Amino acid sequence: MTSSLPLVFSVTSGKGGVGKTNISVNLALALTKMGKRVVILDADLGLANVDVILGLAPKLNLFHLFAEGMTLEKILCDTPYGFRILPAASGVSDMVNLNTGQKLDLLEAMDYLEGGIDHLIVDTGAGINDNVLYFNIAASERLVVLTTEPTSLTDAYALIKVLKLKHGVDRFRVLVNMARDEKGAKEIFTKLYKACDHFLSGVSLDFVGFIPQDAAVRKAVIAQTPFTHLTPDCPASLAIGRAATKITGWKVTAKADGNIKFFWKKLLFQEQSVA
Ligand SMILES: Nc1ncnc2c1ncn2[C@@H]1O[C@H](COP(=O)(O)OP(=O)(O)OP(=O)(O)O)[C@@H](O)[C@H]1O
Ligand SMILES: [Mg+2]
Repeated sequence: MTSSLPLVFSVTSGKGGVGKTNISVNLALALTKMGKRVVILDADLGLANVDVILGLAPKLNLFHLFAEGMTLEKILCDTPYGFRILPAASGVSDMVNLNTGQKLDLLEAMDYLEGGIDHLIVDTGAGINDNVLYFNIAASERLVVLTTEPTSLTDAYALIKVLKLKHGVDRFRVLVNMARDEKGAKEIFTKLYKACDHFLSGVSLDFVGFIPQDAAVRKAVIAQTPFTHLTPDCPASLAIGRAATKITGWKVTAKADGNIKFFWKKLLFQEQSVA
């Protein structure tokens, strides 16, 4: 059975190259296999991202909504794995600068998704820029990906700090990628937890788990196939399965005008610069 309330969560990080896109794509596949209807919003604007990992070339993006006769259904790009991709393909500031009529059209188009999906996974870019912040503020959950490298820890902390201190975002989920083992993953999580606890009061961090360093991931990237599809029994795939199971347990709160619309409203009607 699928839940009737869609959950919008971002997959984000301070540092680039920590595995966000691989995690987004493979979580999407794992959740699809659990019977969920999933769309990935490729919000890593301007950079080839989800499409490259899947070996696809979506022709349309969200901005084509304003072209005549275009619908969200047409823009959503099917994948061979059951989930779909929604390419954002332009800066958030372009979206924020849409006129009110266009924003309302975009919101109306989202009705199509409201009853039709269970998860909208937002694969953000890296760093602390408007694009990354906007999507994280608008999402109802944030999955912060970090690795055991010290720079990834400091960059994740910096992202959480800006989101908390400037925007009041205080709930984060943490997934440690490319870890040697659970002990190593928990050590890095504890460091992040202690820093947040010490310097940012009121931040809640939830350890979702870890994905081990696994040669199968790189092989799958080269094959442009999700690793959970190519090697479903490799350690990274099994770990993705465990993380996906946890995600299905996240409590989804109903928003008055729909959860997907709530996300887009927050995104489109934010102030110009948030950084
Ligand atoms: N668990 C893992 N084990 C081994 N290698 C991994 C793992 N996760 C990711 N990688 C490697 O890291 C590379 C970068 O991953 P990915 O593109 O998903 O990162 P990203 O955070 O989306 O990067 P960007 O910030 O550029 O969008 C992959 O191509 C892969 O080779
Ligand atoms: Mg990426």
